[in-house]
Amino acid sequence: MSLKNDLFLRTLAGQEVERPPVWLMRQAGRILPQYRAIRSRLGGFKELLFNPALAAEVTIQPVDELDVDAAIIFSDILVIPEAMGLDYSMVEKKGPLFDKTINEVADIKKLAVGQSAAEKLDYVFEAIQITKKELDDRVPLIGFSGAPWTLMAYMVEGQGSKTFAKAKKFLYQHPKESEALLDSITETLIAYCKLKIKAGVDVIQIFDSWASMLSPDIYNRFMIKQLNRICTEITEVPIILFSKGAWFALNEMKTLDCQGIGLDWNTKPAFARAAIGPDKILQGNADPCLLYADPSEIQQKTKEMLSAFGKKHIVNLGHGVYPDTPLLGVKTFIKTVKEHKY
Ligand code: CP3
Repeated sequence: MSLKNDLFLRTLAGQEVERPPVWLMRQAGRILPQYRAIRSRLGGFKELLFNPALAAEVTIQPVDELDVDAAIIFSDILVIPEAMGLDYSMVEKKGPLFDKTINEVADIKKLAVGQSAAEKLDYVFEAIQITKKELDDRVPLIGFSGAPWTLMAYMVEGQGSKTFAKAKKFLYQHPKESEALLDSITETLIAYCKLKIKAGVDVIQIFDSWASMLSPDIYNRFMIKQLNRICTEITEVPIILFSKGAWFALNEMKTLDCQGIGLDWNTKPAFARAAIGPDKILQGNADPCLLYADPSEIQQKTKEMLSAFGKKHIVNLGHGVYPDTPLLGVKTFIKTVKEHKY
């Protein structure tokens, strides 16, 4: 394989590069009119998810339109709970809603686990194969999974939540069984990521979107162990861990065998660098709302971010790009990074 633009991979490999690479979390979908056109033609999000050819098309749209340095496969973190036996629907303007949840300890044993569960997600692997072919090695392709805690949070809660208190209650009331549930999710997600790698993804990013809901004690006791297993067992490609809001766990994450650490916008670059040490690549962390500002303001703040991180940096937002973000803001952000020279 020889990629035409391998800046993202060279950066993750710790090599000296000419400028930081840039991509945006949630760049596939949401912000592009081309995406919304395809999605409304199909009738919904899940229809698009289950259609590998169109999933490949919307994966490549931001590469064409925004000129980012990496593509991320169009999919969702909730495919794993579904493969494990918990179906959900995506409710317009509300988000995911599960038909069944982990409501009591006995529900854990009913889940499908590991390789056989992961193999059900053949439509994702097919989308990856088509994307790789159609991308024609222009940029690397990122595959992703939700982290064990974030997936458990949806599996117990059954929907989004401001606090995920139901899922946290389960952790406090049933610590042993929660650990068994987390083990099962981890086993499944490792099998899933390995199949994604086999299908062609060049990097894996793990989204722990609800890490900030947990106390440092709980995160370190339950979750670092799962993340460690993921980093130990997935050795084929570089891994980026994005634990949103988990600045308190950076010291523990320092010990994990991953190449990249994603940061949200609440974390200062210098603080993160001091906690994580000199080796790992930091990814982030502009406030997604910066992209609503005047272009001149976007330019200035982006330059400040670039100098605050220095080298060993992948530019991104501190969370996914919001659906109504103006394209001019997105493009100004990306252009500012691309004009930067170390
Ligand atoms: O990054 C990308 O562009 C690739 C595609 C991607 C989607 N979801 C597509 C999607 C990725 C990486 C995800 C990850 C994801 N999904 C996360 C982790 C990242 C994060 O934002 O914290 C989470 C928590 C989910 C769960 C999820 N999926 C929710 C809560 C929702 C509804 C709210 C929302 O974000 O729109 C989704 C739906 C979803 N996933 C959409 C897309 C494009 C919107 C559906 C639509 O209306 O088309």
